Amino acid sequence: MITVKNVHKSFGLQTLLDGANLQINAGDRFALVGPNGAGKSTFFKMLLSEEWPDEGEILFKRGITVGYLPQENAPVSTELTVLRESLSHLEDPDGRVEARAKAVLMGLGFKVTDFDRKVNTLSGGWAMRVAMARLLLEEPNLLMLDEPTNHLDLESMLWFQDYLLNYRGSIFLISHDRNFINIVCKAVVSLENKTLKVYAGDYEFFVKQKAEDKERLEQAYREQQEEIADMEDFVNRNRARASTASRAQSVLKRLEKLERIELPEENKKLKIRFPQPQRTGVRTLALKHVDKSYGEVKVYKDLNFELERGWKMAFVGHNGAGKSTLLKILAGVVPIDKGERTPGINVKVGYFSQHRAETLDSEKTVLEEALSVRDHSEQTVRSALGSFLFRGESVFKKVKVLSGGEKSRLSLVKLLLDPPNVLLMDEPTTHLDLDSVEALVSALQDFEGTLCFISHDLYFVNALANHVVHVHHGKVTLYPGNYDYFISRTSPQTS
Ligand SMILES: Nc1ncnc2c1ncn2[C@@H]1O[C@H](COP(=O)(O)OP(=O)(O)OP(=O)(O)O)[C@@H](O)[C@H]1O
Ligand SMILES: [Mg+2]
Repeated sequence: MITVKNVHKSFGLQTLLDGANLQINAGDRFALVGPNGAGKSTFFKMLLSEEWPDEGEILFKRGITVGYLPQENAPVSTELTVLRESLSHLEDPDGRVEARAKAVLMGLGFKVTDFDRKVNTLSGGWAMRVAMARLLLEEPNLLMLDEPTNHLDLESMLWFQDYLLNYRGSIFLISHDRNFINIVCKAVVSLENKTLKVYAGDYEFFVKQKAEDKERLEQAYREQQEEIADMEDFVNRNRARASTASRAQSVLKRLEKLERIELPEENKKLKIRFPQPQRTGVRTLALKHVDKSYGEVKVYKDLNFELERGWKMAFVGHNGAGKSTLLKILAGVVPIDKGERTPGINVKVGYFSQHRAETLDSEKTVLEEALSVRDHSEQTVRSALGSFLFRGESVFKKVKVLSGGEKSRLSLVKLLLDPPNVLLMDEPTTHLDLDSVEALVSALQDFEGTLCFISHDLYFVNALANHVVHVHHGKVTLYPGNYDYFISRTSPQTS
């Protein structure tokens, strides 16, 4: 379907692709993976002719249809209703498509009452879901999705996964979610060392192969280094003597011609201490007899809840159970119908949602944005940025050119440079690659304030939580221990 031949792409001094090749055939289901800022979204845009390679070719088979979901900013903002927009690219003489559209919309988490809402009244995340519905209904030959699960909750994610599994066309998607990749895709395309490499298996296979490749490369590197040392030694010992000088000369020539094996640069981990917030009293937040409904739907009735200083609390439970709502109630960003929300002494609450990156100023540079937070020295701000992998020249990039993960990283740096003492985070690892998750975990482990978070990333939960709250049918149960403790108290005994 698509042939990518020897593609090169740079932005200024930064080279993303240097001789990339790829063949996509009908029936392929590929996942494109790679670190934040590697160039995955840019590669997709080149396939769609929204960006151009500096060199090389991208060839499309004639007549194939391609559908694309961008990483952010859904291509919808119409006066149309949700249902009409999802059907806007289709003809539907006998009304059959409409029934399918409704099923898809419901699968993606819309309620029947949402069908007639205008798309331009929806939040960014929900507008993305409308764009997804429209795309799925179009059924293109090739479906290209840039981090589609970022916008979904667990329930709609499961539905979506299943839908893709039964999809008739080919799929090429970008994701950081290994479970999702394992279920939906048949091969992993890795953007590494500025080229594309195909691993014909699931994500685990890819990880294993990569580890073996690395091992092999390091072995070859060690052997070559020894060989080089021997040759240099030979040259040094023999070049001064007339009888051996010519042999030394030829070894020297061989040395110069030798193609040197290079090890890829490892991302050095920088550990810095972020500023700590002002200390609070022991009680940081309390809810008493709180009722909360959305229209007909009662989410909480007579909810009581207390949060103490230094707790790092994970909210767990099925989606739709009300975790995000609880976090928003605690943050005071949604009104409650009844009851009281009482912040403790000195408490300054900060709420961080997945869409926080939308509040960055796109015309500023990374450094300017980070400096705007508080009167920190440039040195402090630079090292904070460095610990979140903004190194060297990259701090002078404008926000508008940043990749999805880079924007999230920048928002996190800004938050951590002036942290609130009660920090509430909804899925903070969305968009982040492994190294960035690591940087966030490390900063939050040191955080001396109070933290509540929702995350589907078990590594993240395990690394941070010292309290777990299970949210289920409007009931919240506190487990005063880490995630293992929660599991040991809730899973049925097996022996
Ligand atoms: N127009 C541009 N001008 C300069 N640099 C750009 C431009 N567009 C993207 N970049 C840079 O190119 C790199 C690749 O960006 P891209 O969005 O393709 O990354 P990505 O692999 O999709 O990352 P993520 O996982 O964070 O979404 C980033 O470092 C980004 O800052
Ligand atoms: Mg991207």
